[in-house]
Amino acid sequence: MREGQNAVIYRADYQPPPYWIDTVELVFDLDPAKTRVLNRMRVRRNPEAAAQALKLDGEDLNLARVLVNGQGTSFKLDDGRLVLENLPEGNEPFELEIFTTCAPAKNTQLMGLYVSNGSFFTQCEAEGFRRITYFLDRPDVMASYTVTLRADKRLYPVLLSNGNRVASGDLDDGRHYARWVDPHRKPCYLFALVAGQLVCREQKVRSRGGKEHLLQVYVRPGDLDKTEHAMNSLMASVAWDEARFGLALDLERFMIVATSDFNMGAMENKGLNIFNTKYVLASQATATDTDFANIESVVGHEYFHNWTGNRITCRDWFQLSLKEGLTVFRDQEFSQDLAGEASARAVKRIEDVRVLRTAQFPEDAGPMAHPVRPDQYLEINNFYTVTIYEKGAEVVRMMQTLVGREGFARGLKLYFERHDGQAVTCDEFAQAIADANPQSRLHELLPQFKRWYSQAGTPRVKATGQWDAGTGTYRLALSQSCPPTPGQADKQPFVIPVAWGLLGPDGRELAHGLHVLTQPGETLAVEGLAAEPVPSILRGFSAPVILEFDYTDAQLLVLLAHDTDPFNRWEAGQRLAVNRALAAIRGGGAVHLDVPFIDAMRSILRHPALDAAFKELVLTLPAEAYIAEQLDVVDPQRVHAVREAMREQLASALLHDWAWAFEAHKDSGAYRPDPVSAGRRALAGLALTHLCIAARKTNDPVWPGKAYQRFKDASNMTDRFNALSALVVSGHELARPALERFHAIFRDEPLVLDKWFALQAGAPDRGGNILPAVRQLMQHPDFNIRNPNRARSLVFSYCSANPGAFHRPDAAGYVFWSERVIELDAINPQVASRLARALDRWRKLAEPQRSGAREAIARVAAKPDLSNDVREVVTRALAE
Ligand code: PHE
Ligand code: ZN
Repeated sequence: MREGQNAVIYRADYQPPPYWIDTVELVFDLDPAKTRVLNRMRVRRNPEAAAQALKLDGEDLNLARVLVNGQGTSFKLDDGRLVLENLPEGNEPFELEIFTTCAPAKNTQLMGLYVSNGSFFTQCEAEGFRRITYFLDRPDVMASYTVTLRADKRLYPVLLSNGNRVASGDLDDGRHYARWVDPHRKPCYLFALVAGQLVCREQKVRSRGGKEHLLQVYVRPGDLDKTEHAMNSLMASVAWDEARFGLALDLERFMIVATSDFNMGAMENKGLNIFNTKYVLASQATATDTDFANIESVVGHEYFHNWTGNRITCRDWFQLSLKEGLTVFRDQEFSQDLAGEASARAVKRIEDVRVLRTAQFPEDAGPMAHPVRPDQYLEINNFYTVTIYEKGAEVVRMMQTLVGREGFARGLKLYFERHDGQAVTCDEFAQAIADANPQSRLHELLPQFKRWYSQAGTPRVKATGQWDAGTGTYRLALSQSCPPTPGQADKQPFVIPVAWGLLGPDGRELAHGLHVLTQPGETLAVEGLAAEPVPSILRGFSAPVILEFDYTDAQLLVLLAHDTDPFNRWEAGQRLAVNRALAAIRGGGAVHLDVPFIDAMRSILRHPALDAAFKELVLTLPAEAYIAEQLDVVDPQRVHAVREAMREQLASALLHDWAWAFEAHKDSGAYRPDPVSAGRRALAGLALTHLCIAARKTNDPVWPGKAYQRFKDASNMTDRFNALSALVVSGHELARPALERFHAIFRDEPLVLDKWFALQAGAPDRGGNILPAVRQLMQHPDFNIRNPNRARSLVFSYCSANPGAFHRPDAAGYVFWSERVIELDAINPQVASRLARALDRWRKLAEPQRSGAREAIARVAAKPDLSNDVREVVTRALAE
């Protein structure tokens, strides 16, 4: 079953494929125990490549027969690959027919063809197609597909594959069939099939050109009432891509299918997207506002791949960010455009940056750091990372900043003109954007700009201000550097767009601009100022860098109160909070939040003009993971204790303000998941949590009582879950009955049970109580480690999202982690390897955690027979 000990793959070794596969005809006889796959291909030599044997990838397949032009042929099996040496001479196409079987019911990795809840699904990206049939499993081999599915009609009434259904009918023995033809050539990672008992919501839409399209969302019977939001999101996606980029749907039929067993969020298979149920199913009773927003963005993301990923795909997997960075950028823009109002757009931007800084910055500073376009990998599945996705999106965003919004749309248009139907590289993308904008800084600086693709690590920009009162000149000196990362000791300067503004001491905006930093150090000067200004630097987070500026509290308070750039306004509040947290952590004493800070937070909370959603972001303290990144040596329990103490003080000092905020925002009308009403619910939820935290200190039963009442009466999941969470987070005794009640209400809703597990595993640790609770929940009848969502909700919520509880001095958290990594690796290496990354940053830990973590990693690494996935992560973690 195990993959062999594969060798490292290098980008520099890329060679074009020695053969092309022009057409593929697949016939499936679906059976959970033994599915038969007949694969008939038209193959020809690639005249551009040296003559050589045809080596087809395969994994966990049973080979029955190989025919070339209808005749038996000699073949070898070499390390899983099927090697054909005696193929017809010349460049004429020949027919290659391969007959194999596989066992979908035994496929716990969820790669290739697998069974989930009695239905068949496939997952082929990146290298899953080789688990279905022998093939040139690489994205630069594109073919036309015809797929015939045969299966028991009663058990599998719905038979789907990519493209259009051209035939269907009954067969003997209660079986039936359907034949699908995909009108578009595609790489095999975009192949998909689905068979099972499914129902669908349908919608016809007309594109601007007048063409009609059928949109469908398939789910299990009983879930149909939770598909409206996904369908609305899909329709909005179709309309947006046409309106913003002129990209129309190129299919008569576009299908989304949901499965509850899925390694990732969703998959963009041509015309047949397969989704984790988490990103499809939503009703006001079962899904939170965050779920609704995530569904909108993931549906958009997969739909947008139809052009950025499917029509133009990746030459090789090192180019993964070509499609992922660009498509994340597109889904972020989509969500911002749908949000509408400038303030709602800013909220989305802040949320995206928060993800980047709490997840990608640590990755870029740890043992798994890699460039947006990596140079090597052992296991490609390990490179579906926040660097490829989120940092990749920032790189695309910087291009847009450098060429402007229209210029960027022009660039995309040229990209499609040049490369539609091809498998290309990140270089070709950047070149098209630059070439469409010959007058731009991007065009001028392109080779240097592309260092964003080749150099890993988060650049630091150090800024210092100098005020010359005599001439009324303010000088801002900017210098850049980038720390070494594995395999890259020295870095060359980046192209860093720095959006900036200057505020007067009274908060009025005096000047603003965009400075493109290209040298190690540069100074920009603004003249004619009457008084020393306050600089607002890196507005809108114009580059994915760490900005160092020695702001005084007074300056930050001006920015928090007045900056016209909402991102930096929020950032000023975060800096004030981080500075206080760091002082307390380093000083070792108790935290004491000062009056100016409290007052500033109060004025934001009480501000008559600001949105509730924005207030909620400002009043939320920086995450423990973000605070930890600012330290050289981290004691996660100390970080946790300090943040909790700050939260308690914010709770007590603003007691009346929180009470006001709760009362003023608790009713947001009939449920709608729009940004304004979601913002009101978020702020009411934050207020309730603080009110319960404050009540804990005073033993006041009133707010916990109100929280329990709201938990019971809530008419939507957001309010209900926020109330439950307030009780759990504040550690009130009503949390227990509330959790029990919650479980009883939602026992048949898997996605809600995930929340129930996650809340308990992620709760603040009190004297080491979380680990025993997690171990006990592992025994719960509803726990099942084989289901990725459930494993994530319990195991990952504890190991990766609850640092204060996980990093125990007695190393018991690490023991638990190593047990689960090893247990999961035997079931599903992709999920195991993600969990393995929970200890990426072990070198930064203070003792005794550091030694405890190293031992746990070494224990995993010592296990023979590890998957490539886990082996790569633990080997890198231990490397010097
Ligand atoms: N390509 C998918 C996406 O980002 C992610 C994915 C990767 C899904 C690998 C499954 C397996 O949209
Ligand atoms: Zn994607």
